[in-house]
Amino acid sequence: MGFKVAVVGATGNVGREMLNILEERGFPIDEIVALASRRSQGTEVSFGDRTLKVKALDTYDFSDTDICIMSAGGNVSKEWSPKIGKQGCVVIDNSSAFRYDQDVPLIVPEVNPDAISGFARKNIIANPNCSTAQMVVALKPLHDAATIKRVVVATYQSVSGAGKEGMDELFTQTRAVFVADQVENKKFTKRIAFNVIPHIDVFLDDGFTKEEWKMVAETKKMLDPKIKLTATCVRVPVFIGHSEAVNVEFEKPITADEAREILREAPGCQVIDKREDGGYITPVESAGEDATYISRIREDSTVDNGLSMWIVSDNLRKGAALNAVQIAELLVERGLIQPKKKAA
Ligand SMILES: NC(=O)c1ccc[n+]([C@@H]2O[C@H](COP(=O)([O-])OP(=O)(O)OC[C@H]3O[C@@H](n4cnc5c(N)ncnc54)[C@H](OP(=O)(O)O)[C@@H]3O)[C@@H](O)[C@H]2O)c1
Repeated sequence: MGFKVAVVGATGNVGREMLNILEERGFPIDEIVALASRRSQGTEVSFGDRTLKVKALDTYDFSDTDICIMSAGGNVSKEWSPKIGKQGCVVIDNSSAFRYDQDVPLIVPEVNPDAISGFARKNIIANPNCSTAQMVVALKPLHDAATIKRVVVATYQSVSGAGKEGMDELFTQTRAVFVADQVENKKFTKRIAFNVIPHIDVFLDDGFTKEEWKMVAETKKMLDPKIKLTATCVRVPVFIGHSEAVNVEFEKPITADEAREILREAPGCQVIDKREDGGYITPVESAGEDATYISRIREDSTVDNGLSMWIVSDNLRKGAALNAVQIAELLVERGLIQPKKKAA
């Protein structure tokens, strides 16, 4: 017996990956529906060997749909997720619209699976920001072992984190630079080709950006409210894969060797850490993969119980689509959802 699943934002970067991952992992689906804006009505997207015709979200009736995986931005989610949830369809939302709502669980299955139990209050479950998701996968087992006090993180975030327009801008600008054409900035505030931009999402009053604030708030909500965290989020000219330089201060002693052993056994983590040329992961190698990769694990002697490391993952997969599908799997594994249409 399978479920009726709708993917909203199916023509987007995350939505297309969502369809791939649902198919790859054999999620129990009886019927799959691809939804996007009216602009995309009738266009086609792939689901395994099949082609799906995209339908418009604003004319779709969710009353017999079991799960809606939503990745169409915050405004669309704010308007639609509560209505869809009220129709008895569980929404797994990729945007930031509900992440900080006390009645909405924010879930990374390797980190806080038990928090999912509260989902029925609104029938909405939030997926974290891409940079937070991969970081907490690596930090959780280390926190369990030695209790994290403080984290200092700098991110190197790929342009796919800004949607398909972000990828198009890097491509177009790179070509323009090569043919000595004029370079236009539309999606990003400054040129992204052959450059880096220390600004993601809007500025807040304290000088941090909203992206940096999200990493603080989401780490506290999912891992531990006592953890202090400060972030600098930077956009880099990479198509897929977010990287993070992470410095962690623990309450209890932990060596680099111990951290490496813990991370080798931890769910979702893969350690690639040879202290030699090329003995580490780069974002290009993470693209299309499910793991959160950890490299360059070393002790930081400038603080008590300090470690530094390099964390990389495919932002469209663990940072978005894969995590959302894992949340759907968790609902099924724990018997928290039943198909509305019973098999005849
Ligand atoms: N990219 C990442 O790394 C990442 C990670 C975590 C979370 N997210 C979140 O995931 C969401 C989507 O990101 P993305 O990278 O996939 O963006 P994207 O490539 O720009 O795609 C946006 C999708 O939303 C659809 N959409 C836009 N307005 C709509 C409307 N009014 N009604 C229905 N559908 C509408 C678009 O459909 P049309 O083609 O019809 O316009 C498209 O399918 C965002 O909330 C983002 O914050 C992204």
